[in-house]
Amino acid sequence: MPYETLQVRTEAGKVGVIALNRPKQLNALNDQLMDELGAALKAFDADDAIGCIVVTGSEKAFAAGADISVMTKYSFSDVFRTEYISRNWEALRSVRKPVIAAVAGFALGGGCEVAMMCDFIIAAENAKFGQPEIKLGIIPGAGGTQRLPRAIGKSKAMDMVLTSRMMDAQEAERAGLVSRVVPLDKLMDEALAAAITIADMPRLAAMAAKESVNRAFESGLSDGVWYERRLFHALFSTADQEEGMEAFLAKRPAQFSHR
Ligand code: HXC
Repeated sequence: MPYETLQVRTEAGKVGVIALNRPKQLNALNDQLMDELGAALKAFDADDAIGCIVVTGSEKAFAAGADISVMTKYSFSDVFRTEYISRNWEALRSVRKPVIAAVAGFALGGGCEVAMMCDFIIAAENAKFGQPEIKLGIIPGAGGTQRLPRAIGKSKAMDMVLTSRMMDAQEAERAGLVSRVVPLDKLMDEALAAAITIADMPRLAAMAAKESVNRAFESGLSDGVWYERRLFHALFSTADQEEGMEAFLAKRPAQFSHR
């Protein structure tokens, strides 16, 4: 499918790569881009060959936030009635296969929120994260005030949301926002290697693991542990569980069928 605001490709026959592509606006996010991102994610999620998805931007910007030139035109009644700006932001959450954000440059406002909606973030050394909405007289609108404190704790989240300061990649790694920091010229190699590793894992276990870790963010501890136990039990009905354990005991490599 042709996209105007994305570059989409497949790597190694098993990883879907989606690059946000509005370079003149530092990948500022508008409704068209978010619609296309949702469609591209859905297509990879439905493709049996694909086991993991990487979302990335350019070397200068993952995304500098929602497009301010669009938002400036809207009133409360416009955005409340039509859900312009925020209607299509939750598509990322419905993706069942693992999604890695490979972030270089600015990940600000909605850009930081898109990165946090991915399952984990690999950052280049030049990455900068921030929720500067307050300077525009608004607050984060796509989960920033909810996901940021869960990721980095209340104090740092308040600091960022209230002062609008940016966090560099090293601070983001110390705070737990990103899983690893790599040199800029190695960002895609690292992200693709991680994605290929995940794509080679037994598919159902990877999907169940993602679902279960996400549950930790969306429910209390006892609900989350109960949910995890149910999924853990359910995986004993899969071919890959049988194969994985038999292969381990036979001291041979496992041949996963992703079933
Ligand atoms: C529209 C944007 C943009 C944005 C950058 N541009 N960010 N356009 N919306 N969010 C445009 C600039 O207007 C400029 O266009 C071009 O991209 C290059 O940007 P510069 O500012 O010239 O670059 P630089 O000096 O390097 O500064 C980079 C920057 C700065 C620090 C990222 O652009 C910036 O502060 N951008 C806004 C960041 C922000 O406030 N994000 C939060 C948005 S609110 P021209 O035509 O002049 O070359 C949000 C709410 C989410 O995200 C709600 C979700 C539901």
